[in-house]
Amino acid sequence: MPVLVLRATNYLRKHTVLVLSFLFVTSNSLAISASQNLNIFDPVSPAATPIRDLFMLVFGVIGIIFVVTEGALIWSILRYRAKGDETTEPPQIYGSNPIELAWTVIPIIIVFTLFLVTTRTIYSLDMEEAPEGALRVKVTGHQWWWEFEYEDLGITTAGELHVPKGVPVFVELRSADVIHSFWVPRLAGKIDCIPNRENHLWFQADEIGTWYGQCAEFCGTQHAKMLIRVISEDKQDFDAWVADQQQKAFETPTKLNGKETFLTLACVNCHNIKGLSMEGGFGPDLTHLMSRETIASGAAPNTASSLRSWLANPSNIKEGALMPNMMLTDTQLDALVEYLQTLK
Ligand code: CUA
Repeated sequence: MPVLVLRATNYLRKHTVLVLSFLFVTSNSLAISASQNLNIFDPVSPAATPIRDLFMLVFGVIGIIFVVTEGALIWSILRYRAKGDETTEPPQIYGSNPIELAWTVIPIIIVFTLFLVTTRTIYSLDMEEAPEGALRVKVTGHQWWWEFEYEDLGITTAGELHVPKGVPVFVELRSADVIHSFWVPRLAGKIDCIPNRENHLWFQADEIGTWYGQCAEFCGTQHAKMLIRVISEDKQDFDAWVADQQQKAFETPTKLNGKETFLTLACVNCHNIKGLSMEGGFGPDLTHLMSRETIASGAAPNTASSLRSWLANPSNIKEGALMPNMMLTDTQLDALVEYLQTLK
């Protein structure tokens, strides 16, 4: 039956193109991920290594299954294709006990083994209590930014989480509004931040560096711009950062009276500045705004021009951001940007 053979060959051809394009897209996105420091295959934390190992095991098992089943498919197509002017169907097999037993028992064993290994990994990574000497951080997901509170140290910051290298970090996760998910692939697995519930997670950055993360649960229009930066540093650098963050806002005189502008506008209703006003809390704490590399949870670099663009209209950078457009005049914008830049 040449028509059938033709169909099968066409199917295979299409299939091959599909598989090849899938592999191409995957390898491309892997390359992009790697350059963005989100590579799950390259953990730098004992809380992420078992997840990578589990992934490799599952990938190996399903890889073997893929090769065996696709191999059997291709072999059958070639081996049983119609020859010459053959018009009869090959003999069909029904009700073969050994075959049916094999394709029932083997998958059960595979699924059960993967289930056991996965459960063991989940339990081995779950830590109910912070271990001795751990750094405790409360992480709150907001639409669309991250709040980091080091209660024991009296520090509240946003978007960028500083941790000492080689020290376990115990993270308590909450949400201020909808469900978010905290995911820094090279440091740990992902865990949801759920309203009215506390979840926890731990990691330990064993290298110095900046590890990127991303909110991993769709949480509204700016879900994609809810980035996380974990900055792991030497104990000395971390202690210096802590000492700096514990200070009140530095009083630096400005030409344009930006502090007064800040206090007379609605800014104070949402943003805290230690030593100036602690009425807010809805938006990120700005006490040491200039110590951060980015603003708007990683959506823009922390430069005078992005600050100005953000203040002029937050939707310039994050469409739909919950900070309103305050319709500021150029004079007010200049004054505010000048003032914010003193918050080192
Ligand atoms: Cu927060 Cu997605």
